[in-house]
Formats: sequence, structure tokens, C-alpha cells
Amino acid sequence: MISVAIDGPAGAGKSTIARALAKRLGYIYVDTGALYRAVGYYALQNGVDTTSEHDIARLLPYIDVALKFVDGEQRVFLNNEDVSDYIRTPEMSMAASNVSALPVVRAFLFDLQQNLAKTNHVVMDGRDIGTVVLPDAQVKIFLTATPEDRAGRRHHELQRRGMEADFDEVLKDVMQRDYNDSHRAIAPLKQAEDAILVDTTGNTKQQSIDQLIRVVEGALAKL
Ligand code: DC
Repeated sequence: MISVAIDGPAGAGKSTIARALAKRLGYIYVDTGALYRAVGYYALQNGVDTTSEHDIARLLPYIDVALKFVDGEQRVFLNNEDVSDYIRTPEMSMAASNVSALPVVRAFLFDLQQNLAKTNHVVMDGRDIGTVVLPDAQVKIFLTATPEDRAGRRHHELQRRGMEADFDEVLKDVMQRDYNDSHRAIAPLKQAEDAILVDTTGNTKQQSIDQLIRVVEGALAKL
């Protein structure tokens, strides 16, 4: 099986670009952030502090998270309910970032991610895919852009969905999540030594897609 691991900070356009790449290659696209978001969602729904390892650990036995692929599109199921549409708010982003710093949560989601790559060709995106989850991935990409560029995209995306958002707030959020994701003790966001750096600052969506397809197809051709 072939795995393409794509890591990078929030808002670099990873999911849109990785989805397009997966479609082009005929692989399934696995958005691992959705798994952390589903755990965060469950915690918020149950009024549990998303930073408390003790309290979150007690919740995990009640959580069944699964990914299903409908026409190649990933849907995330939490205890058999499709929660894909509820996990994209800024509140859920922060909850996901909080629970993702907890070793129990990372261990809880680890096998699910590895098993998907054992049985499918995957484009898998996250923060620790090339470093921890799929260290043997045939192609590793570190996809990034400046914080301002990433906040701009997120702001635009929220507006498009009809959500109120202030640019400075979104930028603060992006920078806070960058800090959390790269400074946590376990599986912090960092570029794998053998990852190819792709910087999408200033690109249109299509330019980023073309750039990534070029880089990945080039790397696959050398295998
Ligand atoms: O990619 P995203 O914004 O949906 O991710 C939500 C949070 O989950 C993000 O703040 C970091 C965390 N995450 C992680 O720690 N490891 C992953 N492989 C994917 C996401």
C-alpha cells in the first residue's frame, strides 16, 4: 500500500489540497484532524474540561469514533452518529487542539489511523503523520504558509459559512493553535527529516493543488 503523509499547521489549506491530490491519485483521503475534533465535540457536549487528561481519559471508553468513506468523501462518526458537520467551528478547533495534546487521546486514535493505511492507498493529513503515525510513508510533505495567509483563508472560509468572525481574532486563534500544536510534549507538529517542504503562501487554491500534485507525482515516480 502507498501512503502519502501530509503534515502542517492549521489553515495551510491542507484538507482542500490533500483531498484534490487523493482524487487525482485515486487514493482515499484521510483527514485525521476530524478524529480529534470528534473527541473534542464529545467532551464539550458532556461539559468535560478538554485540558484535563484525567477527565478525558474517563470519557474515552464511551466514545466510538469511526471514519467512513462515501463516494470517496470522509465522514466522521461518533457513536454511530455522523458529526462531520458539527465539528468545524472555532470552538471545536480549540477543543480538538486541547484534547490532541493528551497522550491518552493520541494513543486512543493511533490504531484507527494506522489500520486505514494498512488496507488502503491513502493521502493522510494531520500533524504527526510523517513523524509518528506513518513513519514509513513513501512520500512525506510538510505543507505550510505564513500565519497571516492561513488566518486570511480561515476568515474567508468562516464568512463563507455565514459565521461572524473578526480577522484579528482568527489570527490570534491560528497563532495560539500553532503554539499549542508545536509545543506539546507528545507528537508535536514538526517537519519530518525526510519530508518535502511545500509553502503555499500567496497561492490561489488551484496553484497550491497543482504545486502539490507536481511534487507528489514527482516523488512517486522515483519510488
Ligand atoms: O487539522 P485540524 O485543524 O482539523 O486539526 C484539529 C486539531 O487536532 C489541531 O489543533 C491539532 C490536532 N491534530 C493533531 O494533533 N494531530 C493530527 N494528526 C491531526 C490533528
